[in-house]
Amino acid sequence: MSDNKTYTFTEHILFPSTHLNPGKLRKAVANKRILITGASFGIGEQLTYILAQAQANLILVARSKEKLEGVKKQAEQLGGEVEVFTADLTNETELEALINKLKNDDTGIDIFISNAGKSIRRSVFDSLNRFHDSTRTMALNYFAPVKLSLALIPRLIKQQGQIITISAANVLLIPAPKWHAYQASKVAFDQWLRAASPELREKRVAVSHVYLPLVKTRMIEPTEAYKNFPAMSADHAAKIICKCIVNRQRKFKPWWLIFGEIGSVLFRSPIEFFMKNTNTK
Ligand SMILES: NC(=O)c1ccc[n+]([C@@H]2O[C@H](COP(=O)([O-])OP(=O)(O)OC[C@H]3O[C@@H](n4cnc5c(N)ncnc54)[C@H](OP(=O)(O)O)[C@@H]3O)[C@@H](O)[C@H]2O)c1
Repeated sequence: MSDNKTYTFTEHILFPSTHLNPGKLRKAVANKRILITGASFGIGEQLTYILAQAQANLILVARSKEKLEGVKKQAEQLGGEVEVFTADLTNETELEALINKLKNDDTGIDIFISNAGKSIRRSVFDSLNRFHDSTRTMALNYFAPVKLSLALIPRLIKQQGQIITISAANVLLIPAPKWHAYQASKVAFDQWLRAASPELREKRVAVSHVYLPLVKTRMIEPTEAYKNFPAMSADHAAKIICKCIVNRQRKFKPWWLIFGEIGSVLFRSPIEFFMKNTNTK
């Protein structure tokens, strides 16, 4: 069930362990209604298990029906109350059906975790006939969470709830070559939520931005160069998200990101050269 990744020495330094107090987590989430998009695999799946153990009431969304049912079964065995909703969030009709369901749900929503995501790494020259790379990433990584947030805000205000976006550390760095479609869409939702958050906080809705480093999930598998890169485990990423729930923390970013932020300004050209020349298979 857990992704069981063992860290190398470097990974231990880069990703120091996150202590999650089970009692505090249970107090924060037991019987709370939590929507997780992208719960069938990777970070969303691991997050589901931790929250289920803390007796949360979960609504899981993704496209893979059978996989979602399997996650539900395991999460229920751990003590969670779980409902699944199969939807392709890039499909207007399916997204609308989810929104209708959430709006008419008597239980309300306490926490919305926007986690579903699609990444594409492709040179701009290989994208000349692939405008759909941009529309697909924008549909899932930007328009779907915006539409869901707008629909859920009245309910979140009522419950003094929380919106959490699972963002990427490179959103805070210089734009990386070959990541134009993915990065633009992740930055778009990050900016949208940053702009909305002062108004939301005034109404006691907490907003958390989780800027994750590379995480070992199926998302990074197509990128050959990442095979030997240090990567966080999905279980570890899930614990970080849970801490953001417990502390209603505004932001998580890896401790070393500040050096990356400075370095990406000072060493922009060599970094771009390196990134441009790493292979994608
Ligand atoms: N892995 C990393 O290195 C990394 C780093 C920083 C941030 N992140 C972010 O972390 C989040 C989770 O990614 P992950 O690494 O856990 O990737 P993952 O294992 O590929 O999981 C992505 C999830 O999104 C769902 N999804 C994809 N397309 C969808 C669609 N059209 N409609 C509904 N659900 C859809 C997938 O389920 P179905 O296929 O069943 O629909 C899956 O549950 C993403 O937002 C990603 O941008 C990842």
